[in-house]
Amino acid sequence: MAQEKITASAIRARKGESKIAVLTAYDATFARVFDAAHVDILLVGDTLGMLVQGLPNTLAVTLEDVIYHTRAVGRGAARALIVADLPFMSYQISPEQALAAAGRLVKEGGAEAVKLEGGGSVCTAVTRMVDAGIPVMGHLGLTPQSVHTLGGFRVQAKDEAGRERLINDARALERAGVFSIVLEAVPRAVAKMVTESVSVPTIGIGAGPDCDGQVLVCYDFLGLFQGFVPRFVKRYAELGESVEAAARAYVREVRSGEFPEDRHSFGNAPRPEAAPDEARYASGPKVPE
Ligand code: KIV
Repeated sequence: MAQEKITASAIRARKGESKIAVLTAYDATFARVFDAAHVDILLVGDTLGMLVQGLPNTLAVTLEDVIYHTRAVGRGAARALIVADLPFMSYQISPEQALAAAGRLVKEGGAEAVKLEGGGSVCTAVTRMVDAGIPVMGHLGLTPQSVHTLGGFRVQAKDEAGRERLINDARALERAGVFSIVLEAVPRAVAKMVTESVSVPTIGIGAGPDCDGQVLVCYDFLGLFQGFVPRFVKRYAELGESVEAAARAYVREVRSGEFPEDRHSFGNAPRPEAAPDEARYASGPKVPE
């Protein structure tokens, strides 16, 4: 049976109905697995700069990088909504620049919605994109593209002024037409206030359980990222350890000659028992005997 495709308006309608599960994804293989698990939104986040490219932050990620990874994710996912991040300096210069960048994410990357960081200052750009038919997700609280202004990756909106600013920004984004808002690293009570102040779903990361949905970075929740693990991350697997153990076993077996065995080698005799293994070559180039 064909999978029902999730749209931005379906996500918007989920507020107060059912919680929204979001993961980041950067390639077709993970996208396929997360899609099969019924993740609602796959976010091609600019965290790809840190996790895929090994950079210290997201600032050097380019529009071309996000387009490339969005295309890959789109090839893997049939059901989830594909949201692509607008990277640093692809939208801050003018609403026209923002619209052009979002247009490229949709036309060249296959994104079905875009995300950008900021409140009041990006609202004109949000309206331009929404008017052009591009669904937009907002991002408030800890906005990693402003890491140098924020003085590091810190919890935001801890005082009265910060709380007020956050609520005002969320309402401004709502008026500008976003279909949802990511709230990153804000106290639980503040996230609850914002969630109750807007009619669009809030998607929390380090913002407590009262948001309308949650997002985690896929390398974090899978235990693949071995660096600093923020308090809000729950590791549902320890793939980093498993992958390292597998790689060590492989190295050991290559060195000892244990791998490959006869059954991993192509010979002259027909090997009917090997046929299923070779099925994955069926749609690709044949591997010669
Ligand atoms: O870039 C990203 O992955 C994000 C999530 C952390 C929300 O913006």
